[in-house]
Amino acid sequence: MAEFRLPKNSRITDGMVHKAPVGANNVKTFKIYRWSPDDDAQPRIDAFDIDLDDCGPMVLDALIKIKNETDSSLTFRRSCREGICGSCSMNIDGTNTLACLKGIKDIKGDVNIYPLPHMPVVKDLVPDLSNAYRQLTSIEPWLKADNSAPEGEERRQSPVEREKLDGLWECVLCFSCSTACPSYWWNGDNYLGPAVLLQAYRWISDSRDDRKRERLDALDDSFSLYRCHTIMNCAKTCPKGLNPGKAIAGIKSEMGQR
Ligand code: SF4
Ligand code: FES
Repeated sequence: MAEFRLPKNSRITDGMVHKAPVGANNVKTFKIYRWSPDDDAQPRIDAFDIDLDDCGPMVLDALIKIKNETDSSLTFRRSCREGICGSCSMNIDGTNTLACLKGIKDIKGDVNIYPLPHMPVVKDLVPDLSNAYRQLTSIEPWLKADNSAPEGEERRQSPVEREKLDGLWECVLCFSCSTACPSYWWNGDNYLGPAVLLQAYRWISDSRDDRKRERLDALDDSFSLYRCHTIMNCAKTCPKGLNPGKAIAGIKSEMGQR
């Protein structure tokens, strides 16, 4: 991953300014972080004036418009455009969020867009999530049951058992929360971070899973779980309105009851 990190002593410089087309009278400026490790010694901020009368309502609409009409080299992830895939997470107007759920009209002044903070950058707004995905794999996020489902039937849960998964299953793994967490910034190699711990709790809480004890034992060291200091940036930033800090507290509580 080291090759994606900025060179030492680099600083962000002013980049290209792309003016709105003549005649546009509802103009907003998008200031976007640009850096390509293959081509650029320094990162820069490019400015794009967009005619909002000729653009969709969300920040992702503006990014797609810029890429289609002004600068095809602008690089970002996106897929579903409706807050389901989690791929368009980035830092917009100072907050980690999903570009497809962030309304342009909710932002006062210029729209400042950066990649998710404290992550290596592959290019422009694309962070390298290899470490986060490795950590996700480590919690084995799949059902581990001793017995097969009854022939031709689903594994049943009571309404109460099913309700325990609410607030957990909705996570789209955008990693906005983990990259807003100071504990994850400083200990991201060993602390699993709020996104992965919320996923861990999702499986610990599932009545159909038979490995709860094993899952808890795997988290019982001084870093994986216990680097959470309840700063709660995770809950403030989650674009899906989830509360990873509460999930982490749930794991700690289960840990005490083993
Ligand atoms: S908890 Fe929220 S912010 Fe964190 S990964 Fe899931 S959806 Fe994204
Ligand atoms: S494009 Fe899928 S969540 Fe934004």
